[in-house]
Order: sequence, then C-alpha cells, then structure tokens
Amino acid sequence: MKLYRKIRKLAHPLTYRRAWRRAQRSIFRLPLGPLRTTIDPERLREIQQRYANVPAGYAKYTNVDPWLRLNRERVQDLKLHRSAPKRVLDLGCGGGFFLFILKGLGHSVLGLDVGRVSLFTELLDLFDVPRVVWRIEAFKPLPDLGEKFDWITAFSVNFNLYHPSQRRWGAAEWDFLLRDLQRHLASGGKIFFGLNPLYAGDYYTPELHDFFLSRGANVERERIFFDKGLRF
Ligand SMILES: C[S@@+](CC[C@H](N)C(=O)[O-])C[C@H]1O[C@@H](n2cnc3c(N)ncnc32)[C@H](O)[C@@H]1O
Repeated sequence: MKLYRKIRKLAHPLTYRRAWRRAQRSIFRLPLGPLRTTIDPERLREIQQRYANVPAGYAKYTNVDPWLRLNRERVQDLKLHRSAPKRVLDLGCGGGFFLFILKGLGHSVLGLDVGRVSLFTELLDLFDVPRVVWRIEAFKPLPDLGEKFDWITAFSVNFNLYHPSQRRWGAAEWDFLLRDLQRHLASGGKIFFGLNPLYAGDYYTPELHDFFLSRGANVERERIFFDKGLRF
C-alpha cells in the first residue's frame, strides 16, 4: 500500500513541479550576507534579550536567520530576485522578513498587518520596512494605500478566519477581497496567497478550489497564484 502511494505520488505532476522549484533554489541561493550586514546587531541583541521569555511562542521570530532563509525561498520561488523593481504589498506581513529581503533587492515595499504583536512592530522598525496597521475583515474594503501595486502577496494567511468560531471564509468573502484588491493592483499586477492548512490538513474546500480557478488562479496545494491577474 505504501509503495503504491509512493508510485502514485511520483506520477503526479505536482511532485515534479515542487522538486524543480527546490532544485532551482539550490542551484542558486540568493546570498543573505549583504542583507545581514544592514541589521543593527546591538538593536537586534537587545530585542532578543527582551523577548527571550515571552509567552505564545513569539521569541522564535527574534532568531532572524531561519526566517530570512524561509523568506528567501518565497522571494526566489516568485522570481522576485530576478525582477526589475516592483511595488509590493504584503498582507499579514508579520515581522516583515519577506519585505526586508525585497527592499534589499531594490523593490518598493509596504506591509499591512493588525499590529497586535509588539515584537513584529519592533522587527519592522529594525528592518526599516513600512507597514499600515489594518485588520482585514470579511466584506470590508482595505483603506486607501496611496498607490497601486505590481504584486500583492500574503503568506501563511490567517486573516480568513472568523473569530471566535475560527470558521474560514468561503467563496463570497474571497470574492469580495479579490475585487477589492483589484482596485489596488497596477495593470499587469499579480497576486499570490500562501494558505494555511485547514484542521483536516486540506487547504480549501472543493468549492473554494474551483472558485480560485474560476478567478484565474494557478492552484498548487497551498499556493494560489494569480500570475496573469484576476479574471472576473
Ligand atoms: C501566521 S502569521 C504570518 C506572518 C508572515 N506572513 C509570514 O508568513 O511569516 C499571520 C500574520 O497575519 C496577521 N493577521 C492575522 N489576521 C489578520 C487580519 N485580519 N488582518 C491583517 N493581518 C492579520 C497576523 O498579525 C500575523 O502577522
């Protein structure tokens, strides 16, 4: 049975796509050294000491290296390390690791987040990454952001949860968000979402999967990529 599952996995095109992406990353890894030198070591140490014992697991974000490496993968997978300067908006930007790398590559960046976690605010400050404090809510448009963006991204998305029920957005909520994001997208702009898994391990219901496809997304497990913009 196990062997059958392995063979089935090998025959799946997704397996090759993901392996090819991994291979591309390992052939060329964007060097992080020059970026690290732009981080004030004193200030980082001071933040690390202050947050060493905070509850809720946030202390892990003060160890910046693993997060820079993870976000380097995101940058490379989206080929933003080989792109002319773009305007990038990152929804739920957290501590701003992704945008910090992009800024170092010459892109112009803006984060958006609820601003509830003071450590994230301090990291954004340390990285000199600008952020708009805003809570994304179902059926509520984003504020005026003062510019249009070539890319809108969101990784490990969890703005799609209702509180306190933790119920997830359906197609109607996503449709509203996408139509709203269209207003903030420059012509030829792209949108990428990296979803968090549902409790059962899936990323979306079959209906939501079909909805993303109908709006023009490439859907690959957790990756929802509108690489040719949105279709309405
Ligand atoms: C799991 S973290 C991911 C952070 C970052 N995108 C990453 O992948 O490292 C989710 C982020 O989304 C933010 N967030 C959660 N709900 C949100 C909402 N309704 N509107 C905006 N941001 C939200 C959280 O504050 C947090 O920074």
